[in-house]
Amino acid sequence: MNESAPLSQHTPLFQPRFDIGAQRIDCGREPDVATHAAADDFASWPLLDYSDCEPTEDQAAINRWLAEAALEGRDVLHVGTGNSSVARLLAGKARRIESVTVAHNEWRHGRELGLADYSVHLLNKHSLAFAERFEAGAFDCILDNNLASFACCQRHLERYFETLVRLLKPDGFVLTHWLGMQWTLDVGVDDVEPVWRLDAGKLRAIASVYGLSVQREDELFFLRRADRN
Ligand SMILES: C[S@@+](CC[C@H](N)C(=O)[O-])C[C@H]1O[C@@H](n2cnc3c(N)ncnc32)[C@H](O)[C@@H]1O
Repeated sequence: MNESAPLSQHTPLFQPRFDIGAQRIDCGREPDVATHAAADDFASWPLLDYSDCEPTEDQAAINRWLAEAALEGRDVLHVGTGNSSVARLLAGKARRIESVTVAHNEWRHGRELGLADYSVHLLNKHSLAFAERFEAGAFDCILDNNLASFACCQRHLERYFETLVRLLKPDGFVLTHWLGMQWTLDVGVDDVEPVWRLDAGKLRAIASVYGLSVQREDELFFLRRADRN
């Protein structure tokens, strides 16, 4: 391989699997925990570190649903750790709870809770490291109230959806919320393309590409394998 050849000659071109109008198809940078650090530094309110905040309105709505759900013995993945409200709610009920965050303080706070069967991972959900962290079919329930809110580009958002599908058990589901779907990082630095503000139609269009169907229950949206029995 010619070391001095442009990157495009080394890397197979990314072919998007859907088109909802995104302009930034490939940001060209492997996502890591610092991807939105500049926006976080710039914002005068908490953007990435919710270790010291109450859950957002959408997270709280998801938690109300979780409190009534039959998750005994289930494996749960929480994307966007916040103050570990999900782990505190489900500890002793779920079989295991894994959580993912890009915020060091959330990672530290979650670990210091010392909850049994709870692990926090400092990882960007769009990264290869996240795609490879857990075994295939590991989770019954994956929670992410900000599914596309931090999308750096279409290529990495697609990688995230591929990972979600890979991680779901056959009867598993991804749960998200209307409020978080509509929110994208928009502080004037390193903003996320507004196209990633999802509505029900966009979510269905994206999900269908990954073989997922979408069921709406009021403001909650459940994504499940369309081909399950
Ligand atoms: C607005 S806070 C919400 C926290 C919590 N889910 C809640 O709603 O209360 C956004 C969360 O998403 C996490 N986050 C943002 N971008 C991420 C990414 N690319 N990968 C993993 N976590 C990310 C942040 O670290 C933080 O935990």
